[in-house]
Amino acid sequence: MIEKINETADFLKKKTGMQPRAGIVLGSGLGGLVKSIEVKHSLDYRDIPNFLTSTVEGHAGKLIFGLLEGKEVVAMQGRFHYYEGYPMQQVTFPIRVMKLLGVRTLFLSNAAGGLNPAFEVGDLMLIRDHINMFPENPLRGKNLDALGTRFPEMSETYSRVLIGKAKRIAVDNHIKIQSGVYIGSPGPTLETPAEYRMFRILGADSTGMSTVPEVIVARHMGIECFGISVITNLTEPSEMEKPTTHDEVQNVAETAEPKMTFIFRELIKSL
Ligand code: HPA
Repeated sequence: MIEKINETADFLKKKTGMQPRAGIVLGSGLGGLVKSIEVKHSLDYRDIPNFLTSTVEGHAGKLIFGLLEGKEVVAMQGRFHYYEGYPMQQVTFPIRVMKLLGVRTLFLSNAAGGLNPAFEVGDLMLIRDHINMFPENPLRGKNLDALGTRFPEMSETYSRVLIGKAKRIAVDNHIKIQSGVYIGSPGPTLETPAEYRMFRILGADSTGMSTVPEVIVARHMGIECFGISVITNLTEPSEMEKPTTHDEVQNVAETAEPKMTFIFRELIKSL
C-alpha cells in the first residue's frame, strides 16, 4: 500500500512540480469551485497510476493542480464512494497521496440530506463533528506506521479554528450558515423515513454517503479538516411525500455551490 501511495505521489510531483498545502474534495454537483482555480494541471483519474475512476454522474473524475487565491491547491473534482464497490483503502487513496504531496489542510464538501428540522433546502452546514455509520473503518488492517498512529485521536476531527473563521466569513457576507453533525452511511439507497428518524435520534443534523472515510484517513495523518454539507433535500415526514432524486440533489447543489465556493476561497486565502 505505502509503495503505491509513494509511486502515485512521485508521479504527481514530477508531473506538476507543485507542493500544495491545501487539498479540496468536491462533492456531487459541487465541482464549480474549479472555475475559481487558476489551473496549472488537470489530470484525468484514469491517467494517474493507482487511481480509480469515478462512476457517478456529477463527478468529473479529475485531479486539478493550480492556484486559488494565490495558494497552491490540489482539488479532486469527483470523489470515490464506498457504494461504488471499492474497498475503503481505495476510496481514501487520494487523501493518502495528498499528504505526501504536502497537504496540511483538507477542505471537503458534500451534498447531504437535512435531518435537523430547522434546515432549509440550499442551506450550508459547517460540519462540526461526524458519526461513522459505514460498516467499515478505512484504517482497519495493518497500520501504516509511517503515516500515523494505530489509534488516532478524534476529539477535534474538524478544525474549530476554521469553523470559527467560516462562521465569521458567512456572517460578514450575509451567507446563511448552519452547523451540525454529519452522519455518513454507505448508501446507495437513500434512507427510509424510519432510518432518517433514527439518524436524528442519534444526534445527526445531515446525512450523506461520503466524507467520513476521507476525514478519518486525513486525521490519521494529522491533516487538519474542514467540511461543508450542502443541504439538498429535507427528511422530515412532511417532506418525504415527494421522493428525492439524484437530479434534484445535483440541481440544488449546483445552485448553492457559489456560497460554498466563496467560503472555501476566503478560508484558503487566510491560510
Ligand atoms: N441521504 C443520503 N445521502 C444524500 C442525501 C440523503 O438524503 N441527500 C444527498 N445525499
